[in-house]
Amino acid sequence: MCGIVGYAGRRPCKPIILDGLRRLEYRGYDSAGIVLIEGDGLQTVRSVGNLDALFAAAGETSSKATVGLGHTRWATHGRPSHENAHPHDDCTGRVSIVVNGIVENYKELRAELTARGHEFKSETDAEVVAHLIEEHVDEGLTAAVCAAARALQGHHAFCAVSADEPGAVVGTRNQCPLVVGVGDGEMFFASAIPAFMAHTRTVIVLEDGDVVTLHADGAEFCDVAGAPLVREETVVPWDDAAAEKGGYETFMLKEIHEQPAALRDTLAGRLLEDGTVDLSEVGIGDEMLRRLRRIFIVACGTSYHAGLIVSYAIEQLARVPVQIDVASEFRYREPVFDPDTLVIGITQSGETADTLAAMRLAREAGSPVLAICNVMGSQATREADYVLYTRAGLEIGVAATKTHTSQVAALLLLALRLAWARGARTEDELKRLGHELRAVPELVQQLLERDTAVSAIAQRYHDERFFLYLGRGMGFAVCLEGALKLKEISYIPTEAYAAGEMKHGPIALLDKESPVVVVADDGPVFPKLVSNIEEVRARGADVIAVATDGNEVIGELSRDVLWVPKCDHHVAPILTVVPLQLLAYHIAGIKGLNVDQPRNLAKTVTVE
Ligand code: M6R
Repeated sequence: MCGIVGYAGRRPCKPIILDGLRRLEYRGYDSAGIVLIEGDGLQTVRSVGNLDALFAAAGETSSKATVGLGHTRWATHGRPSHENAHPHDDCTGRVSIVVNGIVENYKELRAELTARGHEFKSETDAEVVAHLIEEHVDEGLTAAVCAAARALQGHHAFCAVSADEPGAVVGTRNQCPLVVGVGDGEMFFASAIPAFMAHTRTVIVLEDGDVVTLHADGAEFCDVAGAPLVREETVVPWDDAAAEKGGYETFMLKEIHEQPAALRDTLAGRLLEDGTVDLSEVGIGDEMLRRLRRIFIVACGTSYHAGLIVSYAIEQLARVPVQIDVASEFRYREPVFDPDTLVIGITQSGETADTLAAMRLAREAGSPVLAICNVMGSQATREADYVLYTRAGLEIGVAATKTHTSQVAALLLLALRLAWARGARTEDELKRLGHELRAVPELVQQLLERDTAVSAIAQRYHDERFFLYLGRGMGFAVCLEGALKLKEISYIPTEAYAAGEMKHGPIALLDKESPVVVVADDGPVFPKLVSNIEEVRARGADVIAVATDGNEVIGELSRDVLWVPKCDHHVAPILTVVPLQLLAYHIAGIKGLNVDQPRNLAKTVTVE
């Protein structure tokens, strides 16, 4: 959580830092701040609320500063307030810092620093960093940052400036993201590359424990003990426009519409024209796939739902037992690992604390770990034994959409490859499914063209106080995702249930007032689902079904139907979730809510 931007160059940097923060606002938006080296001192502006407040406050002063830092906060320790907003300074007001992550030993450090005479102005864990630097700043800012980094426990990235070294910004990371941007006569720090993409696409990705000193003309690298390091530059193949809304009202809508391209990119070069799958880039050989006795899937939120969907496909197609758990439960339930159990960590950001911890646990216990991830160079990809990237591109909307369907597509590739290697299905059958998957991006494109029908249904139901989602098999997993989308962006309470469980409790919720969304693909359990729909109708509730074109039974039983193109039921979850994303989007839009930044949420959850 939290976004950091740093600049050392020759241009006035206030607008550059503010623009960078705007591009990182998805990482946190309860308060924000900026510090600039002005003359021989520091000028700090902080504000509570989203970045508009900071822009207003910072706009009141002119600045020629060419070095500075910015921060947008998602509160962990200390409520969102002016005092707790970053940057934080030391007792002298000559050092200022911004931090992302958590200082786990901050209570001990704060007590020790207080005993040595430091005075704290905030309730945050982060402020200890400013005071630790203060104690060593006479040795130089870089040495002081090294000393502070050595004292900290937890996962964090932080940057510091000192009025006594007006040309420098020093930063370091430990299990939290921090990248360096290399410009022409200017250098950048940021929590994510888009923050400086308008200025440069040349980046240096830092390793844990790197300490970097930026000046206008370059960067010096060392470890926390001060030993020099060499780091390579790379050029990212991204387009600056990817960080903008591209004509859509919101990032979420843009990203929903980017799904055909994201799916095509994720399948490209892996799902071949003859319907077979080539995942040799991942480095897991067929011999290992044959040896596997079990798969664990760990993930959080939407990524967990992608895992749940494909856990059905892996068992059905490849006949490998799969256990799936949310990472926050998995990491503490003492799971039993062995070398023939593959642990798959699914995380679009590659930075989710619980998923990373679950993956680490598995590795330490001797199980091979595969990361399914969207962000190149992220923590999950560095720590895993194997990586299968989704290629969804940058996702800025807090509600995951294109990264979810890309995860399902990538995992289906794995399911097909696994089934092939183990001879669990005939080659013809697997090739047929491969062709079904190849058709999906085009089918999603067609589906997006039916958005007017979804928005009409959203108009009809946007005032409802509760929605129940029912499905079976993979359709149940899609329900969980559809229900999450609606609750997180519209704040309407939702519940998703396996339809067969309805009679064991949730049926008590049904009445004429509560619409029931049913995901009814044409899978083998469809007849069972029809009985469940009858039970719903008998209680007078309206049924909004998601069903495949031409399904007359559903047409007759449901008040409204969100039609999706026909496809095999193994790939159907990539289609059936799309109208549910759009339904949530339109309902939240009618309510006038900010879908890109839902309350209390952040895009990347780097805390437990
Ligand atoms: O980056 P990750 O995939 O690890 O994130 C996990 C969840 O925080 C995430 O999927 C969250 O549930 C979605 N943003 C909700 O739309």
